[in-house]
Amino acid sequence: MIVKPDGVQRGLTGEILKRLEQRGLKFIGLKMIRIDRALAEQHYGIHKGKGFYESLVSYITSGPVVVAVVEGPSAVAAVRTTVGKTNPAEADAGTIRGDFAVSIGRNLIHASDSPENAVKEINLFFSAAERLAWDRSADAWILED
Ligand code: RTP
Ligand code: MG
Repeated sequence: MIVKPDGVQRGLTGEILKRLEQRGLKFIGLKMIRIDRALAEQHYGIHKGKGFYESLVSYITSGPVVVAVVEGPSAVAAVRTTVGKTNPAEADAGTIRGDFAVSIGRNLIHASDSPENAVKEINLFFSAAERLAWDRSADAWILED
């Protein structure tokens, strides 16, 4: 997942990470970076040619972002339900986009949309050394065997 530049600039990084963390998802990689155009084009290559592509690349490269690798049962689905619909105007209250955003082009957070794309995106943004396997003492209370 990525806290997009608007999330960082608005001081919502902690709030966004908190919501995922308190749900029981586990961060196994976390850093602040500035996405350059080449990386943005790789990450959002699937949208190339669409009307919003140039503004999307410009948006995601407009300031620092916080990127994270999130682990947990059905992590992709869990993160996306916590994030809410792409267009914040349609996002349910209680979701990150539903609670903090109103514009589709300023929707605060990116979340991988499938396990396959999550693997691709993790490899795009994180080296092996930046991915940390760690034991969480609370796991017995969050995860059923
Ligand atoms: P994301 O990839 O950023 O997590 O968002 P998503 O899966 O919910 O939505 P996606 O369809 O992948 O679109 C990527 C981002 O492009 C912007 N967008 N603008 N103006 C538009 O019609 C439009 N559609 C999409 C949004 O910032 C969206 O998050
Ligand atoms: Mg997407």
